[in-house]
Amino acid sequence: MYNILLLVCIITIIQSKLKVIRPSNLINEHIDYSIANFGIIPFGHRLMGTVDMAYPSNGCSDLLPTYGAHFILIERGDCTFVTKVRNAENAGYKLAIIGNYNDDPIQSDFAMADDGHGYQVTIPSIFIKKKHFTQLQDKANNYKVEDSNDEKIMMLLKFDVVKSDVISVIFGLNVQDRESYRIVDEFEPFYNKLESQNMNYTLVYSIMSFHSSYDSSQQQNSDCICQNRYCAFDPDGPAIGTGRDVVYEVLRQTCLFQKYPKKWFGYMDQFNFKCSRPQAYSACSQQVLDMLEIPKNEIQQCVDASFIDQYTQQQTKNETNAINTLLEQQLYIQQVAGMNGFPSVLVNSLAYRGQFSGSGIFGEICNSFLTTPVECSAFVDEYQPPVLEQSNILYIIIITAFVIFFLLLGFCVFRKFIERDSKMVTQPQVNEMVSQYIKFYEGKDKQKEGTI
Ligand SMILES: *[C@@H]1O[C@H](CO)[C@@H](O)[C@H](O)[C@H]1NC(C)=O
Ligand SMILES: *[C@@H]1O[C@H](CO)[C@@H](O)[C@H](O)[C@H]1NC(C)=O
Repeated sequence: MYNILLLVCIITIIQSKLKVIRPSNLINEHIDYSIANFGIIPFGHRLMGTVDMAYPSNGCSDLLPTYGAHFILIERGDCTFVTKVRNAENAGYKLAIIGNYNDDPIQSDFAMADDGHGYQVTIPSIFIKKKHFTQLQDKANNYKVEDSNDEKIMMLLKFDVVKSDVISVIFGLNVQDRESYRIVDEFEPFYNKLESQNMNYTLVYSIMSFHSSYDSSQQQNSDCICQNRYCAFDPDGPAIGTGRDVVYEVLRQTCLFQKYPKKWFGYMDQFNFKCSRPQAYSACSQQVLDMLEIPKNEIQQCVDASFIDQYTQQQTKNETNAINTLLEQQLYIQQVAGMNGFPSVLVNSLAYRGQFSGSGIFGEICNSFLTTPVECSAFVDEYQPPVLEQSNILYIIIITAFVIFFLLLGFCVFRKFIERDSKMVTQPQVNEMVSQYIKFYEGKDKQKEGTI
C-alpha cells in the first residue's frame, strides 16, 4: 500500500514539472526551473500557453504586445530580472521564462531576486538552464509574435506544492526587521481561518552561533549568550543595544507563540509599534504583555526552562555550560531547511516564492492540503491539463470524424425532409399557377385574335 502511495507521489511530482506539450519531441528531459522571489505565484495551479521569443532578446526595453501568446522567453543579463518581467507583463504576457547564460544546475534555493521594485510585478517568472532555453529559442525564432498561435510552442507549467494531511509552516523572522512584522500582521486573519485545520507552525528567528568547541577560553561576545552559542547581529552599531537584547526577545516571542499563539499576533503588532530601542526590549516587552493581559510570569518561566545545563541536563541559570533548547531547535531548522534570508516562509519544506503577502502564503497552504478544506475552496484549482500525446491525437481525429459524419448524415436527412415537405406544400400551388397561366395564355390568345 505504501509503495503504491509513494509511486503516486513521485508521479505527481514529475507531472508537475515544466513541460513542452507541442512540439512533443522538442525537449523530452526534465526541465528544472526556479521561481522568482517576486510576482504573484499561483501555487498549486497550472499555466498552459504558447511561447514567444522576446525582441530585443534581453527584454530590457519595451516588448511587442502579445497576439495571444502567454509565455515569453527572455535572455539573462543587461538589466534586472524585475525589469525584464515587468516589460513582459506590460506586453500582456502571463509568464516570463528567463534563460541562464550557463548550464549550471538550477539550485532549488536559487531565486531571481527582487531589485526593490518587485512589488510592481504581478506575473510569475521562472529561471531555466541555457541548454533548455536555447532549444526553445531556436524553435521560437522560426515564427513571429504576430503569427498564428497554432504554430507556436506550447508549454505547461505547474507551480509545485508538497501535499500532506498536516501542513508544516515555518516562519523565518527577524526581530529587528519591519518586513517580518508586516507578514505576521497580514497572515493573522488567515491563521484564524485555518484554526480548525491540522497545522504545524514553527518560528525560526534570525540568530546564529559563534561557539567554538575547540577554544574554551573564547571571550563572550556582547552580541551573544551562552558562550557565543546564540548570537544576533548588533542591532544599532556603536550604540548601546546588543545582539543579546535581540536573542532574549527571540526567546520571549518564541515562548509566547508556544503558549498563546493567537495573542502572539497582537503582541507582534504592538511590539513593532512601541519597542524600537533594543536596550529597552525587555522592559518594553513587559509593558506590551501587560497591555494585552498575557501572564508575564508564564512567559518568563518558559524562557527560564529553556536553559539546560549540558552536563546535568537540569534547568540552569548559569549560562556558562547552558544549552538553550528553543534556540538549538531554531538553529537546527535553519540548517536543515535551507532557509536563506529573513523573512522567509516554508510550507511543507518548500520555500515560499513570490511577493510576500498573507493571501499568497495562504494560497500555498491551501494548495498543500491533500483534501481541500472549505476555507480554501476559492484558492484551489482542480483543473486537469489536457495531455496531447500521440495516441490522444488519434483519438481526437476519430471523434472529430465521427462528429462530422453524423452532422453530414443529419444534414442529408434534414434536406430530404425539407424537399419532401416543400413538394407536398407546393404541388397544388404549382398546379394552380400552371392552370392560371394556361388560362391567361388562352385569354391572351383570344385577345390576340381579337386585336388582329
Ligand atoms: C512540526 O514541525 C517541526 C519543525 O518542522 C517538527 O520538528 C515537528 O516534529 C512537527 N510536529 C508535528 C506534530 O508534526
Ligand atoms: C557558572 O558555571 C561555571 C562553570 O561551571 C562556573 O565556573 C561559574 O562560577 C558559574 N557562575 C556562577 C555565577 O555561578
